[in-house]
Amino acid sequence: MSLSPSAALVTGASSGIGAVYADRLAGRGHDLVLVARRRDRLESLATEIRVRHGRKVEVVTADLTDEADLGRVEALVRDTPDLSILANIAGLGALGPAAMIDPATVGDMVKVNVLALTRLSLAAARRFVAVKHGTIINIGSIIAMMPVPGAGGYSGSKSYVLNFSRSLQAELTDSGVTVQVVMPGPVRSEFFGDKPAPFPDALFMSAETLVDTALAALDQGETITFPNLSDLAAWEQFEAARGVLVKGLTQSGQAADRYAKASA
Ligand SMILES: NC(=O)c1ccc[n+]([C@@H]2O[C@H](COP(=O)([O-])OP(=O)(O)OC[C@H]3O[C@@H](n4cnc5c(N)ncnc54)[C@H](OP(=O)(O)O)[C@@H]3O)[C@@H](O)[C@H]2O)c1
Repeated sequence: MSLSPSAALVTGASSGIGAVYADRLAGRGHDLVLVARRRDRLESLATEIRVRHGRKVEVVTADLTDEADLGRVEALVRDTPDLSILANIAGLGALGPAAMIDPATVGDMVKVNVLALTRLSLAAARRFVAVKHGTIINIGSIIAMMPVPGAGGYSGSKSYVLNFSRSLQAELTDSGVTVQVVMPGPVRSEFFGDKPAPFPDALFMSAETLVDTALAALDQGETITFPNLSDLAAWEQFEAARGVLVKGLTQSGQAADRYAKASA
């Protein structure tokens, strides 16, 4: 299928946040490539979007834990005509006590949240830098700032998304390419499945509000977006403290004085 004038590839488009990104990006005039495992969901969303927005929509089923499938999606990022947006939304939590959780489930989470997001971002960066234009949207989570019990792998994966996206954005400053990392709090979606969510209902945002807020932030040029953070000073203070720490960590190659006895 030939897509024009400007296409967006959205992973995790079969439900929740990704499905809303697909709708909103089509509403902004983008043709779409929708990626997830559940074809029926993707097909019915594609039909709705074609009717509602009159855009072209290509449906691609892929399991992002599978090397061959990931390779196919990477090739789409590389080769889809006029691709200007990559939205890495696919993700899962693999939540639960470390001693009880199936390690394979955590491994799959890392493959989707970290490996697939990285490989697709790098493919997009290479392509977008060459034409000096394009946007990569990566979904992090506030859990990146909260290394809580029962979410070690998930929290780590989203810290990765935050740092990876920030480093990429820093590297691509002035390249014409934007990298936005979106850091949602709890969002109503299929994310928690039939398990009780570890947050009170009042903390949840709808996927629609989340995506509309994140896109408004992107329009305003934000590269790190905390959609539910009213007082930006909290983030600015965190960043200032991080700067002080980084300064302290880059002063000397000597062991700190408090370890003098141990290292003598
Ligand atoms: N909901 C929250 O509270 C919350 C908060 C912060 C961040 N987030 C992040 O937001 C993103 C979207 O989550 P959501 O809340 O919209 O949850 P969701 O409704 O469960 O959607 C997850 C999406 O990821 C796709 N996906 C999962 N495993 C996949 C795989 N192996 N291969 C390909 N696609 C896969 C799913 O599609 P298929 O099952 O059809 O493959 C689905 O489209 C995730 O990265 C999540 O970490 C969510």
